[in-house]
Amino acid sequence: MAGVTCDLVVIGAGPGGYVAAARAADLGMKVVCVDRGWLGGTCLQAGCIPSKALLEASHRWAELKEGLDDHGILAGDLRLDLAQMMKHKQGIVGGMTKGVASLFKSKGVEYLEGEARLAAAGRVSVEGAGEIEAARVLLATGSSPAELPDLPFDGERILSSEEALSLDAVPERMAVIGAGAIGLEMGSVWRRLGAAVEVVEYLDVVLPGADGEVSRQLERTLKRQGLKFHLSTRATGAEAGAQGVLLHLASRKNDRTSTVECDRVLVAVGRRPHTEGLGLEEAGVDRDRSGFVTVDEDYRTSVDGIYAVGDVTPGPMLAHKAEAEGVAAVERMAAMGSSVNYGAIPNVVYTHPEVAAVGLTEEQASEAGHEVKTGRHSFRANARAHTMNAPDGFAKVVAEAGSDRLLGVHILGAQASHLIAEAVVALEFGASAEDLARTVHAHPSLSEVVREAAAAVGH
Ligand code: NAI
Repeated sequence: MAGVTCDLVVIGAGPGGYVAAARAADLGMKVVCVDRGWLGGTCLQAGCIPSKALLEASHRWAELKEGLDDHGILAGDLRLDLAQMMKHKQGIVGGMTKGVASLFKSKGVEYLEGEARLAAAGRVSVEGAGEIEAARVLLATGSSPAELPDLPFDGERILSSEEALSLDAVPERMAVIGAGAIGLEMGSVWRRLGAAVEVVEYLDVVLPGADGEVSRQLERTLKRQGLKFHLSTRATGAEAGAQGVLLHLASRKNDRTSTVECDRVLVAVGRRPHTEGLGLEEAGVDRDRSGFVTVDEDYRTSVDGIYAVGDVTPGPMLAHKAEAEGVAAVERMAAMGSSVNYGAIPNVVYTHPEVAAVGLTEEQASEAGHEVKTGRHSFRANARAHTMNAPDGFAKVVAEAGSDRLLGVHILGAQASHLIAEAVVALEFGASAEDLARTVHAHPSLSEVVREAAAAVGH
C-alpha cells in the first residue's frame, strides 16, 4: 500500500463517504475510501436499515396479534420466532453491504479496511496498510451513541441503540432514556414484541423539535399502543445487577425522585461526532465546542485540502443530509456549483403511524417573524386510509400569510415517509400552498391528505 497516490481519500464508508467516493470517481478522480470495516456505515450496519427491518417485522406481528378480523382475516395460533426476525434483518444488511462493495467495484473506487489517521499534509496512514498520498482528504467519519456519565453502556443491561437492535430475547420490562427518534423507534419495536416499555424524557414533550400538534398527537397514539412516558424527567443513574436494573429518575418540575425497575435500559440521548484517533488536533483541524468539525460552504475544514461532511459536521444527523453533502463537496472540488438546500431536508421518524416533516414548524415560522397561515386535514377523512385500517393522524401545511409560499409540511400518518417527498419537491421549487392544492392527486390515495391540507390553508 505504501506510496499510493490518489486525488481523494475518503475516510468513512457511511452514506456521506461512500456516496461521495462514488460521485468523485464518476467525475474522474482516483479515489480511495478507508473504513474500519463498516461498509455502509452506522446507517446500514447498526442504524437506519436494521431498525427499519425490525420496525416492519414488529409492525406486522402487532397487526396480526391485535387482529385483522375487520378485514375478514382470522389468524390462528401466532408464534414469534425472534431469532428468525434477527436473521432476516441481518440478511438485509448483508445484501446491502455487498451492494456497496459492488458499487465501489463498478466505479473503480479502491476500498481499504483499517483505522485511518491524518499523518501529515496530504497524507493519510492506514493501520496495517501504510500511507496514502492524496491531493484532498474528505472526513466522513459519522457519529456514535452518546453516553450518559451516570449510565455508562455495559452491553448487558445498559444498552446503546446499536445493542438494542440485536437482543436475543424480548425483555419483560424495558426503560428507554430519550423520546427522540431512536428512543421512540426502538421503544416501539420492543413494545410491539411484548415488552413493557417506559420512556423517560428530559423535556416536556415527546419528539422535541417536531411540530407541537404532531408531538401531542403522537404521544397520545403511542400511549394507546402501551408505551408509558415520564416527561420533564431526568435519568440520574442506575443500579444494574443480575436480577435487573433499578433506574433512578428526578423530576425537573419539583424535587420529586422515583425509580423504575426494568430488565434493560436503552440510552438514546443523542449521538456525538466521531473524531477520536483521527489526528485532527495534530493536523490543526478546528472543531466547535460540541466537538463537530467546522466547515465552510465548500465543506473545507480549517486545514487546506481537508474537507468534512455528514454527522461529524454540525447540522441534523441524517443519512440523506450526509449523502447530499458528500455529493456537493466532491462536485465543488470539481469546480461545479453544487449546494445543499438545508431548508428542504425531510425528517422522518418510523413509529406507527410515521412522522415526517420538511421545512419550518408553525412555531419556528412564527419565531422567524413570518405571518403564518396553516391548513390541516385528517387521515380519518380519507377513504384509502380506511381501506388500509390506518385512519390515525393528519397532515399540516404551514404557509406565509401574504404570499401563500410554503414554509413547512408536517405529516403524522401511515406512510408519511413516502408522502413527504412531494412536499420536499414543492419546497425545493418554491411552491405556494395553492400550487400543492391545485396539483391533481390520484384518488383514492393517501396523498390526497396532503393536497387537502394545502387546500385548507385557503387562498
Ligand atoms: P435525539 O437528540 O433525537 O433525542 C434524545 C432525547 O433525549 C432528547 O429529546 C433529549 O431531551 C433526551 N435526553 C437527553 N438526556 C436525557 C436524560 N438524562 N434523561 C432523559 N432524557 C434525556 O437523539 P436520538 O434519538 O438518540 O437520535 C440521535 C440522532 O440520530 C438524532 O440526530 C436523530 O435525528 C438521528 N436519528 C434519526 C432517525 C431517523 O431519521 N428516523 C432515526 C434514528 C436516529
